[in-house]
Amino acid sequence: MEEREGRPAPGGTCTNVGCIPSKALLQSSEHFEHANHHFADHGISADNIKMDVAKMVARKDAVVKQNNDGILYLLKKNKVTFFHGRGSFVAAKDGGYEIKAGEEVVAAKHVIVATGSNARQLPGAAFDEENILSNDGALRLGAVPKKLGVIGSGVIGLEMGSVWRRLGAEVTVLEGLPTFLAAVDEGVAKEAAKLFKKQGLNIELGVKISEVKTGKKGVSVAYANAKGEAQTLEVDKLIVSIGRVPNTIGLNVDAVGLKLDERGAIVVDENCKTNLPNVWAVGDVVRGPMLAHKAEEEGVAVAERIAGQHGHVNFNTIPWVIYTSPEIAWVGRTEQQLKADGVAYKAGQFPFLANGRARALGDTNGFVKFLADAKTDEILGVHIIGPMASELISEAVVAMEFKASAEDIARICHAHPSLSESTKEAALAVDKRTLNF
Ligand code: NAI
Repeated sequence: MEEREGRPAPGGTCTNVGCIPSKALLQSSEHFEHANHHFADHGISADNIKMDVAKMVARKDAVVKQNNDGILYLLKKNKVTFFHGRGSFVAAKDGGYEIKAGEEVVAAKHVIVATGSNARQLPGAAFDEENILSNDGALRLGAVPKKLGVIGSGVIGLEMGSVWRRLGAEVTVLEGLPTFLAAVDEGVAKEAAKLFKKQGLNIELGVKISEVKTGKKGVSVAYANAKGEAQTLEVDKLIVSIGRVPNTIGLNVDAVGLKLDERGAIVVDENCKTNLPNVWAVGDVVRGPMLAHKAEEEGVAVAERIAGQHGHVNFNTIPWVIYTSPEIAWVGRTEQQLKADGVAYKAGQFPFLANGRARALGDTNGFVKFLADAKTDEILGVHIIGPMASELISEAVVAMEFKASAEDIARICHAHPSLSESTKEAALAVDKRTLNF
């Protein structure tokens, strides 16, 4: 359990050192970027624009605190007794479990483990949160580093790299895989690579890190590039974002025989049941994507099951979002997955460049892409790169949850002018019937 100024800070990674604070910094840094580069297009002149990093970080902390307090309020409102401290299993007893919660031991009939994950360390480069930073340290730098290195071009690397680049850092991202954003639809990943490069994010693919050294001047990263040539990257700060590991440290699973897999994740079935009666586990500590909304859905479903209802999580319609600029969001399968699965599909795409609202916003990069079954027209995947992709994706999630066809979306009236018209147009494009392109 996290603490802030000696007080409990509930909400886990998402609230304290993940989703919420990163979005606060992304917003601040985007304002700064707009003021520097886009205000002039609107006829606004602003000279001598400065960023007060300490104030930006303090605002972010205040946003986090509002969320912590919101959770404490909700616990109270729902009459949930909250124990602050590290929880661990003590023993199985009387058909239930004894759980150590801070200094106290409580008896529980049902237990839900939701202990989340920790940043994965690069061997030989332990996080000191001073020079070698995890998501935590990356969110509370006191000043803009002149040179910032990022290892791993995944979600955290791209979001944090974007924040500090917008504020003036020279950012180099070193990625182990030869493919950029391998899990993302190929067309979207290609567009993203082009746009991020244009913004000045330097991304090197197919690297192999050999050594990371910290010294007085910062961090030195020795690596082999894609051609196998030895290189050195000297930076002031280094963010290591190479994935996360399930957090079961200190849970004392052996006291009750709770089963973990080889990655240290708690083994669960599709209903989040562990190998022990009445012990459940949800979120990053179990299989599946490490996303707060996936964890939340699992938590609700488990609570419903404990209450004798039929909770259900549809893993096929969990949306993904990367909050870069432009944002990237998707649901369902990518074009490369459909090809690998041998599914016959039709694709339709619509660029924001042809959308009136996007032009008025001055944000015309990217597109919406629909993938639908060639025979039935059922929507199999929707991929968006562009303004407000995180919000636009909801329509696709709802559509897929209701097993809609691309034609269903194409026939729905969308407000004009709105970015969502691009969703309708992409659905029309599946049948080569776009109206505005
Ligand atoms: P990630 O799994 O998204 O990306 C890690 C990247 O590091 C991959 O591209 C991988 O190929 C690369 N990598 C792994 N080992 C490497 C090595 N030794 N050298 C160079 N590259 C290496 O993990 P990330 O960014 O750390 O995020 C962790 C988790 O947090 C993810 O599961 C993500 O879904 C979640 N998250 C979600 C966010 C969102 O929904 N917007 C925001 C931030 C994190």
